[in-house]
Amino acid sequence: MAVGIFDSGLGGLTVLDAVAKRLPEVPFVYFADSANAPYGVRTPDDIYRLTCAAVERIWAEGCDLVILACNTASAAALKRMQETWVPADKRVLGVFVPLIEALTERNWGDNSPPREVAVKHVALFATPATVASRAFQRELAFRAIGVDVEAQPCGGVVDAIEQGDEILAEALVRSHVEALKRRMPHPEAAILGCTHYPLMQNTFQAALGQQVQLYSQAALVAESLADYLDRRPEFLGTGTVSKFLTTGDPAYVSDKAVQFLRRQIRFEAA
Ligand code: DGL
Repeated sequence: MAVGIFDSGLGGLTVLDAVAKRLPEVPFVYFADSANAPYGVRTPDDIYRLTCAAVERIWAEGCDLVILACNTASAAALKRMQETWVPADKRVLGVFVPLIEALTERNWGDNSPPREVAVKHVALFATPATVASRAFQRELAFRAIGVDVEAQPCGGVVDAIEQGDEILAEALVRSHVEALKRRMPHPEAAILGCTHYPLMQNTFQAALGQQVQLYSQAALVAESLADYLDRRPEFLGTGTVSKFLTTGDPAYVSDKAVQFLRRQIRFEAA
């Protein structure tokens, strides 16, 4: 009864930790496409092709349901995958919508017209591909009116994290926050719209100020997955073992994972 969790690299581990805590009886197969990370500077066609290949590999591990714990793939490829590629007996879900539902104070499946919400000025930090897709603004517009979103493409941050260069990652986060604040000096809330960014959460919070409410996806996705599996238990696949797969060098990727997650994680070759 395993479930798959996909990311281009280490970022999805922030989601994996939360879902594994929420659903301790479920085995999870984590897949990091480290050889092809970062996705955030790739074209939508490229992201679609790589994400489909990774999802097929995870299906082969006995997971009928795969969570794209990657905003870039969720924004640039998921809709196309669901509409044209995913067979009826499988599911691929993204990490985007639960976050927007939380921001707009909606319950699951609330399809009423868009309405005014408390938060008016929102900073969005995401990869260049996610920002270019405008998927966040599109989903938000279905649910809320009068929300001003300023998006900052955070070039270089995922690369620095994947290479284990925390000092560079911190410097880049600070400069991206400064760039955003020049355009929106007083955001009330900030979305960490890339699953790698919670690994830099303290740096984002310090640069933004403590008064800015940070939204990140892990806990929200965990709740939404638990709810989904309650309603659709048939999508728990046949797999029985939790594992960590990577298209990169397993020793190198395991090392970086331990550095950022501060616990032992052993990747094996995908
Ligand atoms: N963690 C992915 C995301 O949430 C990473 C992106 C990348 O590979 O650039 O967008």
